[in-house]
Amino acid sequence: MAHESNTHNLTSHWRAIDAAHHVHPFTDTAALNKEGVRVIVKSDGVYLWDSEGTKLIDGMAGLWCVQVGYGNAELAEAGYEALKTLPYYNHFFKTTNPWTAELAAKLATILPDGHEHVLFANSGSEANDTALKLIRYYWNLKGRPDKKIHLSREYAYHGVTMAAASLSGLTPMHPQWDLPLPGFAKVPAPYWFGAKAAGYGDIDPEEFGLLIARKLEEAILEIGADRVASFSAEPIQGAGGLIFPPATYWPEVQHICRKYDVLLHLDEVITGFGRTGEWFGAQTYAIAPDIMTMAKGLSSGYQPISAISLGERMSKTILNANEELVHGYTYSGHPVASAVALKNLEVIEKKGLAHRTRHTIGPYLDRRLRETFEAHPLVGEVRCVGLLAAIELVPDKAERRFFANSGDIGTRCRNYCFTNGLVMRAIRDTMVLSPPLIVTEAEVEEIVAKAKDAIDRTAHDLGKM
Ligand SMILES: Cc1ncc(COP(=O)(O)O)c(C=O)c1O
Repeated sequence: MAHESNTHNLTSHWRAIDAAHHVHPFTDTAALNKEGVRVIVKSDGVYLWDSEGTKLIDGMAGLWCVQVGYGNAELAEAGYEALKTLPYYNHFFKTTNPWTAELAAKLATILPDGHEHVLFANSGSEANDTALKLIRYYWNLKGRPDKKIHLSREYAYHGVTMAAASLSGLTPMHPQWDLPLPGFAKVPAPYWFGAKAAGYGDIDPEEFGLLIARKLEEAILEIGADRVASFSAEPIQGAGGLIFPPATYWPEVQHICRKYDVLLHLDEVITGFGRTGEWFGAQTYAIAPDIMTMAKGLSSGYQPISAISLGERMSKTILNANEELVHGYTYSGHPVASAVALKNLEVIEKKGLAHRTRHTIGPYLDRRLRETFEAHPLVGEVRCVGLLAAIELVPDKAERRFFANSGDIGTRCRNYCFTNGLVMRAIRDTMVLSPPLIVTEAEVEEIVAKAKDAIDRTAHDLGKM
């Protein structure tokens, strides 16, 4: 890559070739090309720099993934070492490599009880796709091939493969591709802030948690428990708007899954690896899944790698089937990705990143956001678990209702954030934060100050300040 001093002059070149040849994810290509793309050239800690020298504080840890922050030399060196020693080999031919074997063993020590076996893939979507295949295989092995319906939730995001997108409950993800596939059904999300707008009235969060969990039971009974294979869910719904379940929700959901013999698939792609203040959301919410998927924070995003762990019930059946498991990717358990992930887990542990997320920096972010925004005229709710935080922008503070053109105000606010040098995501009109787990108090102050300025400016545009 060109030296930093040259990047300014190269910006128009990169923009032009990118516009000519690169199709971006989740992007209106023509609109982006008219606007011109931002070229990110450098990173360090919680900061990014673009090719014009603009410094951004990354309140999103990339896409919710850079747990250890950018520029960690230990991860880079672990990857380089593996690249020099064994840049590639696979696990198909009765072979393994030290890094992947060590990573699987390390995961077994931190995963929920009974999760002793893992498969590897390269993305969250692949992991979820694989999980659904394993669930189908499990029921086939059990002699119950009619159990094939996969339940998941409205506002869920599980990725973009045909199956993962079918599992997702964000409806704009479906029409372009004629999805969902047959065999997928949705139940409501435990989105308490949206309960009033959804017609549930002034219900308290605990009662709402139970009511929504029982919608799962209603769906199972309607479809027939003998046809329902699984329920897939994120412990906290991330890309759907940071939906934190009321305390009553997960105990009741687990009770229902057990009662009707429905496998519980937990998607920990965002919530894993310290993000909620424990290794996994499963521990934060006391969830005992049958199968779990993870990606993102597994390598802090430094390498594409994901994993699927099998609980006791599934592993016993699947691993004792006495036949070949007809599944696997060329890059399952890639040595370089495994080496980086292994070092990443070591760094998370050594620096106590989950512990500080739970006990110091997470509560600090929570307190500062509440102090700054709870009384703000544009803010309906501030919520935070670990280092996941959401600020709901609403037209009427008292009413828990949403803006008519969902997303317009959030996008406006997000653009002000960028102008201020803060990466903060807008999901509909909910402003979302998920900073690297190494974020300091001073950096939290910078994020809060920049977010405050952006939200003030948005409120001013609406005549609310
Ligand atoms: C909960 C969850 N599951 C799955 C995915 C898909 O992961 P990937 O983009 O690596 O395919 C994501 C991505 O944001 C996610 O948030």
